Amino acid sequence: MILITGGAGFIGSNFILDWLAQSDEPVLNLDALTYAGNLRNLASLQGDPRHRFVHGDIADRALVDRLLAEHRPRAIVHFAAESHVDRSILGPAAFVRTNVEGTFTLLEAARAYWASLPGADERAAFRFHHVSTDEVYGSLGPTDAPFAETHPYEPNSPYSASKAASDHLVRAWHHTYGLPVVTTNCSNNYGPFHFPEKLIPLMIVNALAGQPLPVYGDGLNVRDWLYVKDHCAAVRTVLAHGRPGETYNIGGWNEKTNLEIVHTICDLLDELRPDATGPRRRLVSFVKDRPGHDRRYAIDARKIERELGWRPAETFESGIRKTVQWYLDHPDWVAEVQNGSYRDWLATQYAGSGAAP
Ligand code: NAD
Ligand code: TYD
Repeated sequence: MILITGGAGFIGSNFILDWLAQSDEPVLNLDALTYAGNLRNLASLQGDPRHRFVHGDIADRALVDRLLAEHRPRAIVHFAAESHVDRSILGPAAFVRTNVEGTFTLLEAARAYWASLPGADERAAFRFHHVSTDEVYGSLGPTDAPFAETHPYEPNSPYSASKAASDHLVRAWHHTYGLPVVTTNCSNNYGPFHFPEKLIPLMIVNALAGQPLPVYGDGLNVRDWLYVKDHCAAVRTVLAHGRPGETYNIGGWNEKTNLEIVHTICDLLDELRPDATGPRRRLVSFVKDRPGHDRRYAIDARKIERELGWRPAETFESGIRKTVQWYLDHPDWVAEVQNGSYRDWLATQYAGSGAAP
């Protein structure tokens, strides 16, 4: 049994689906179902006894203690977070609460549980896998080398500062208490179930609706994109083979400007779902820049490639095509997210099949 936090979110739900497609080891999924949590993502697991959902907060120490004591997981994979930079600028408090205090609570509960494990072998095999981001490293200049694991932490947004704080707590819990932790810092993900407030799904959804495509500033900020299922595979690899106390950067060597991304999406939609009104690039609309907007992120993934043999399966071209096709194939998912009815899934659809509100 493994405990996943944030398993109803974008990456967590992809991780659980991929995990259970490859293994019969059960998953306990602890998620608070904030606006970003969507049980519909896990609809294909309804009635599957290998997936047990618990509606709760990682900052609830009594709940986490109880879950660990009852289910005795061999590992915790910690995805739960507030994850959107723009929201962190408007309201940073939730980011400090979940990303910093929540991670602290989880670490303390994990430490007590780990210390109580009966055998040295069991303690040595236990893992606390902290899922983090490349944004903790700050912003690169145009000719700087990509972020290696040794790059100094220079977070610039409330989101990245809260993730950096959580990374430091995880590091300290290993150094001071010996908790067997691994941390992964991944570049920007994209793929199925991505909430349409983030660049790629927002552009797909708006372009399909003939709405403006809001590009911040000059559109030349660079992000390094990885298909979500490649991130999930990397997390599985690090969980299985990563060395305790180490950090691993995850990325697919896919640096793109935001404008390139938006143009690619427009062109794919024009090909797959032509619009009689004309090419979607006409919808691009330059808007006021995000405050403190990091200019460039890029990941040096040589450590995980060399030490653990992980490599992405998708190129950007194959991954973005699959992603655009997924949104075309799932208009109901998009509609439920847009009209808010995805939030009813706990009460109306999921209860009775493992949900424990
Ligand atoms: P998301 O916002 O889609 O999902 C977060 C999930 O966490 C949601 O299901 C939400 O309900 C849950 N959650 C939030 N607060 C909680 C709390 N207090 N207790 C329990 N559950 C809570 O995020 P995501 O994009 O899936 O990101 C998952 C993790 O990966 C995050 O830690 C993020 O920092 C990291 N990450 C994301 C990306 C990316 O491009 N999305 C890249 C690198 C790393
Ligand atoms: P986002 O998906 O929010 O991820 P992050 O800020 O964590 O990298 O944004 C990706 C890039 O796209 C970032 O440079 C900001 C930009 N962006 C826009 O230009 N327009 C938008 O509407 C959004 C949401 C993002």
